Amino acid sequence: MPRILALETSCDETAVAVVEADPTQKGFAPRVLSSVVASQIEIHAAYGGVVPEVASRQHVETLPFVLEAALQQANLSVAEVDAVAVTCAPGLVGSLLVGLMGAKTLAWLHDKPLIGVHHLEGHLFSGFLAEPDLQPPCLCLLVSGGHTSLIWMKDYGEYETLGRTRDDAAGEAFDKVARLLGLGYPGGPQIDRWAQQGDPQRFPLPEGKVDHPFDTSFSGLKTAVLRLTQHLQAKGEALPVADIAASFQARLTGVLTEKALACAEHLGLSTLLVTGGVAANRELRSRLKEAGVAKGLRVVIPPLAWCTDNAAMIGAAGLSHWLRGEVSSLDLGVASRLPL
Ligand code: KG4
Ligand code: ZN
Repeated sequence: MPRILALETSCDETAVAVVEADPTQKGFAPRVLSSVVASQIEIHAAYGGVVPEVASRQHVETLPFVLEAALQQANLSVAEVDAVAVTCAPGLVGSLLVGLMGAKTLAWLHDKPLIGVHHLEGHLFSGFLAEPDLQPPCLCLLVSGGHTSLIWMKDYGEYETLGRTRDDAAGEAFDKVARLLGLGYPGGPQIDRWAQQGDPQRFPLPEGKVDHPFDTSFSGLKTAVLRLTQHLQAKGEALPVADIAASFQARLTGVLTEKALACAEHLGLSTLLVTGGVAANRELRSRLKEAGVAKGLRVVIPPLAWCTDNAAMIGAAGLSHWLRGEVSSLDLGVASRLPL
């Protein structure tokens, strides 16, 4: 049974996992033997965002321990896996290099093939970790701190991006608005919490017009929140944080829901997969589920541990490459940007 060791260090999570194919399932069903994630979020919170140099140094310090923990959890040694998969793009170059050098060293030392995985392809595979009977074709709404994309998964290894953000990613917009409201980093969970007690209709905010049906733009929405807070502060009023958070969240999640459903309809697809850190947002989850079900769509939103950065999703994507006989050479490099 093919078994993959996977490393993920593209941003601020150091992650290692062991994943194997499950032959008892009909479709492509990766079984997670171990998954360990060391988050750097508390270190970066002091700076209000991820500091690339700090992130790569932290990966260097943490990776050996995370690797050991993941192998121990799976009760395996590197000699017992078939290949080593690693995220090679996109992401922070210094951080990606730490994972890639680690993976190359393991592959070379143990004479195992190396498999480079695109980070976004990894996110797509979080769906297969969550629901073993999931099968392409499907549409994936990927919403994280760095990405807001609508990706058509035609088959394993065959993708087309139909929509993307023109400026801020959804998570980035959450983080920036949270900062304007004086909430901590990361801002998404804070806005989510404050919005629970707020009135989403109190402040009508702009949608962010884009001349493309599936692209998004959130910088105008963010600027509208800035103007609103400046206006209220100039009048000497205390900021109604809950109402602003609720109004902002309602607008942003409304746009994402509308675009995702329109895109699925355009392609005639019946499955929508939602992943990335922003998939944790309660309003986004309930809007997509509700509107999706009304349209007869199967909406798959994996548990949060698979939505945020982890190595099990990289292992699952690596496994699909392995099963197709696709491996990388040892001179594989990293790239900060790379289309899927
Ligand atoms: O996928 P992720 O963990 O990391 C990458 O960006 O790759 O996503 C992190 C983003 C952050 O911007 C964070 O504010 C946002 O996901 N986020 C949320 C929620 N939880 C995390 N945004 C909205 N609501 C949430 N509950
Ligand atoms: Zn990610």
